[in-house]
Amino acid sequence: MKFKGRDIIDINDFSKEELLYILKTAKRFDPAFVKSDRSNYTIAQGKIVALLFFEPSTRTEQSFRSAAQKIGMGIIGFNDPEATSIHKGETFSDTIRIMDSYADVLIMRHPEALSAKKAAEVAQIPVINAGDGPNQHPTQTMLDLYTMMKEAGKLDGITVALMGDLKYGRTVHALSLALSLFRVKQIFISHPNLAMPDEFLKILKSRKVTYEEYERLPENLEANFLYQTRVQKERFKDLKEYERIKDKFILDSSFKKYLDRGIKLMHPLPRVNEIDPALDSHKNAIYFAQARNGLYIREALLALVLGRINSR
Ligand code: CP
Repeated sequence: MKFKGRDIIDINDFSKEELLYILKTAKRFDPAFVKSDRSNYTIAQGKIVALLFFEPSTRTEQSFRSAAQKIGMGIIGFNDPEATSIHKGETFSDTIRIMDSYADVLIMRHPEALSAKKAAEVAQIPVINAGDGPNQHPTQTMLDLYTMMKEAGKLDGITVALMGDLKYGRTVHALSLALSLFRVKQIFISHPNLAMPDEFLKILKSRKVTYEEYERLPENLEANFLYQTRVQKERFKDLKEYERIKDKFILDSSFKKYLDRGIKLMHPLPRVNEIDPALDSHKNAIYFAQARNGLYIREALLALVLGRINSR
């Protein structure tokens, strides 16, 4: 396993062993597992991270900011490309080349699929994909896996239901593929027009993953986790279709009986109206804890790609 200098572009670039190692490393930063360790504060002292956010973000940008500062890094970058020389016509490639020369790690969110890969081809330093359009958001997948592992104590042997926008949701595509490396039963719940695309189902079949598909939430759902997602308005070409579908899979207060049965509710956030805030106080509504776990995963990833934590 080698993490130093490595790009984090696509969850499929990581083996089961590598993913488990990242999850194990994240525990080192998580107060649920270790008492505050002051040596973490200087792990990456003297290093600079550049945050290049071409698209809005709350969790990913701010948790990377927080993670970088918690391990001693300086931060540069932007979240409004119009306030940079891109506004004057500077190319994507030149922007990456310039930021590459000022930093030790680049973290980029961009609306175009494969833009992180393009950035990695230009940059000499590690590039971490913080979401490239409809394609990938690998650090979200890692924090999702971390949350499941932390809550269930294992990944092998669990059942995960994925619900909502399974067609456009990059988080569910990547999560489904990552879970397929483990012995996890998967349940897909969506409107037929937002079903898990065939290309992903074919991969699951080839990996002999057990999965089921439903058009509505089964009354007798048996799962360790239900992963709810937002219908991605910004990915619809036909907004009338979005309006027809958007409210089909809202979890209202009647979902409490599922939480009472022990099913843990996850969501990558932001939510719009797909989870009633009345559910937030239930101990099995874990989406805010899930977002917090992103901090520990991102501290671990920064330390690993900088070679400041040895990987075996
Ligand atoms: N889950 C997630 O990526 O949230 P942000 O868009 O706020 O970063």
